[in-house]
Amino acid sequence: MLYDFRSFINPGYYAFGKGTLSRLGQLIDRRKENGKGWTAYLIDIYFKDKNIEAKLPIIAGDLIIWIDPVLEPKTSLVDEYAAQIKAHNPQLPSVVVGMGGGTAMDYGKAVRLMVTNSGASHEYQGLDKIKNPGIYCICIPTISGTGAEVSMTTVLSGPEKKLGIKCDYTMPDEIIFDPELLDTVPDAQRFYTGMDCFIHNVESLEGTWITTMGKAFAEKSNEMCEDVFMNDSLSRIEADEKLMVASILGGNSITYAQVGVCHALSYGLAHVLGIHHGVGNCIVFNQLEKYYPEGYKKFKEMQIKAGVEIPEGICANVTDEQLNVMAAKALANEHMWDNAFGKEWRNHINADIIKDLYRKM
Ligand SMILES: [Fe+2]
Repeated sequence: MLYDFRSFINPGYYAFGKGTLSRLGQLIDRRKENGKGWTAYLIDIYFKDKNIEAKLPIIAGDLIIWIDPVLEPKTSLVDEYAAQIKAHNPQLPSVVVGMGGGTAMDYGKAVRLMVTNSGASHEYQGLDKIKNPGIYCICIPTISGTGAEVSMTTVLSGPEKKLGIKCDYTMPDEIIFDPELLDTVPDAQRFYTGMDCFIHNVESLEGTWITTMGKAFAEKSNEMCEDVFMNDSLSRIEADEKLMVASILGGNSITYAQVGVCHALSYGLAHVLGIHHGVGNCIVFNQLEKYYPEGYKKFKEMQIKAGVEIPEGICANVTDEQLNVMAAKALANEHMWDNAFGKEWRNHINADIIKDLYRKM
């Protein structure tokens, strides 16, 4: 193992079930001191014209920041949003809500830390660098699969590196899982994000870092993923409820194991071409039959059933220089390669093999 011993944290509270969003006011109120305080909401911009405010317990003095998920989370925007919150009211909020997909939730998780820690967020990229606990953070996933809701990392692109702020303080304090919120997710996006979860499980199960705990989470999660995408008898709401649980379990599977080849290569795609995590993983996994034959077979079955086309030819016009950067970014994820192939991973993978794989994408 590359890391020392660690005892892993999970969110403190899980609120689960259809209609749970209507309980958000109660959950916020119990974090207010003497009934006083305000809430900062970071919400996926998708909901801006959907009258989401009517479903949220917004009161005078609260703040909404709309999050555009097109670009992956950036340290510069984390700092901007933290400044906006501090300028809104010198009394810090009682609660920060992150509502949306992995991007909105990651902003919520990071911003709530940057209002209680001085300096710029890029100074905290890395492991255990945050000094002070953040504001109480409630995450509300509206698309499922990334596992961001149960992750102690918020992955951020900074001026120098794409690296998580990773520590116990990053973990959200509470999660609302309301499957009704997944109802309007477009099919392709639902598939790409669901496959992020499936791939977490495959990479955990096939890796050398697998543990009994990680295996239990990953096996159950994949059973649920396959049910979600292959079982016609499930209603949409039943499937969405299962996908929410699969995402929690898949997120935990990588906590107790590690991701592998697909995530390492996907980081290279994201860095150079700005491709979003879920779709990037699908583009990569589509070329990984050699490394994950069983997982690949199931992935293709689910893809065909979902009727989703995986983008192809995205590397057709990349320059040699870009390809070199992508390969270097992928290779830098040593812990992922170590998980995938073991300590002698350099005997199995190198820049040339990686570049050949990218050329096929
Ligand atoms: Fe992932």
